[in-house]
Order: sequence, then structure tokens, then C-alpha cells
Amino acid sequence: MSDTAGETVIGVIGGSGLYDIDGLENAQWRQVESPWGAPSDAILTGVLDGVKMAFLPRHGRGHVHAPSTVPYRANIDALKRLGVTDILSVSACGSFREDMAPGDFVVVDQFIDRTFARDKSFFGTGCVGHVSLAHPTCPRLSDAAYEAAKSLGITVHMGGTYLAMEGPQFSTLAESKMYREVWGADVIGMTNMPEAKLAREAEICYASIAMITDYDSWHPDHGAVDIAQIIATLTGNAAKARDLVARMPARLGAARAPCPHGCDRALEYGIMTAPEA
Ligand code: ADE
Repeated sequence: MSDTAGETVIGVIGGSGLYDIDGLENAQWRQVESPWGAPSDAILTGVLDGVKMAFLPRHGRGHVHAPSTVPYRANIDALKRLGVTDILSVSACGSFREDMAPGDFVVVDQFIDRTFARDKSFFGTGCVGHVSLAHPTCPRLSDAAYEAAKSLGITVHMGGTYLAMEGPQFSTLAESKMYREVWGADVIGMTNMPEAKLAREAEICYASIAMITDYDSWHPDHGAVDIAQIIATLTGNAAKARDLVARMPARLGAARAPCPHGCDRALEYGIMTAPEA
């Protein structure tokens, strides 16, 4: 238990294009140790509109961690150690839908996890736990992010299924068509899993803002996706993402009621191992 019970502490995990946040009082970059290894980087802490904030650049400043080598467990654990109650994940994604265009934001509410080379749980030998992921994101936090985006005039879509792929290569045309036509995914990215799973195990509310940078490779009128295209769109979106983050404290408030959806109690009936085992 942290010393911030009853108080909102917003964690922001910034993806490509978001490496810090503006306007923090008492801002300091803090090294946080974790038994799960070193987090992606130091964590920027401070206060914004009376609410404690903790910002972690997912890929590290200088973008040194690839999607498969991001230390997801250390990241979530380090945020938990700072008392974070709510994690807003910001990341880039490709779109499988004509009406979800590059430049738009999506508040993701479902995932299909196709990653395979990452540690996905804090549980294992010695302590076995199973949490529900039927609803992997927090509706209260997601609503706050959606309203913040709308209030800024951002074109934002409420709800969408995010296909998490291993990468680092982008999808083949056949994969892209299958994810879209057969599996019904709306967007694709490389980082939201296992992040969302681990946040649930850590009893932290999690919401994902996915910023669309491209149409992946399925779209007949658009060529194959490349990094130059992604960076160009991200550069245009960076200011919007920063403004959205800046509005979150006012939306959530410093005093925190228990999560109405139970994200903060996910482990209540989740541990299988007997205490004396
Ligand atoms: N991130 C941004 N665009 C992407 C895409 N098309 N596939 C996977 N990750 C992405």
C-alpha cells in the first residue's frame, strides 16, 4: 500500500513522440528501483492542477527500447511504487478502419494480444494469481480521457479493439487483412500489451489513447506503412497529446473515490496460492 490512499496519482506512459510533460510543479526525474529490473527510464514526477503526476517515457528518452524489450513489468511496478492509481497510456497505432483516419485518437477498450516474446505477469511459480481481463480498460479513466480530448477539439473515437503485435516489423498484407476482416480489430500497435494486463494485476486503472498514424498495409489507396510517415503524423499530434495529458488532472480531481469498476480491487479474489504455502 502506498501513502497516497484516497488520492489520485496519475501515471502517464508516453509513447513515440511523447517524452515528457509540461507545466509540472516540483518537477523532478526520479530513479525508481524495482525487483523486476530497471524501468525504461527515470520517472518525471510533479504536481499539475493539484494532482500528483508521474510520467514515464515507454521507450526511454532517446527512444532506446524496442517494443519487445520495453521492461513492462518494471515500468508498472515502478509506477505502483510511486502510488500511481491511474495510468494513461499514450501510443501510436495503425488503423484498420476507413473512418478512423491518421491524426485521429482512439480510446481503446479491447485488446487482442498477439505478442509472444514478453513477460506478461507478475505471477508464476510460488504465487499463482488470475485476474479478469474481460474489460481490460477502466471506463471511468477512459471517459475522462475521451472528454479531455473532445474538449480540445481532437477527433476522438470512443472504443476500439487494439491488436497488439510483437513487431518490430510491421504486418504483412495478409496479416493486415486478416486482423481487419476476420478478427474485426480496429487499430494495431506494438506496446499496449502486456502493459494493460500488468496494470490490472497491479490494481491500477488503465486507459489507452491510441494516436493513429497510418492505415497499416490493407488500404488500397495508401502504400505500405513506414516510419517517416508515422513520425510525420506523430509530430503533428504531439502538441495535442500534451494538451490532453494537461487536462486529465482537472477531469479526475485529487480526491479519489474507489474505482466504480473495481480495477483497484482486481486481486480481491484473484490469488490461488494459500498464504502459508
Ligand atoms: N504503430 C504505428 N503504426 C503501426 C502499425 N501500422 N502497426 C503496428 N504498430 C504501429
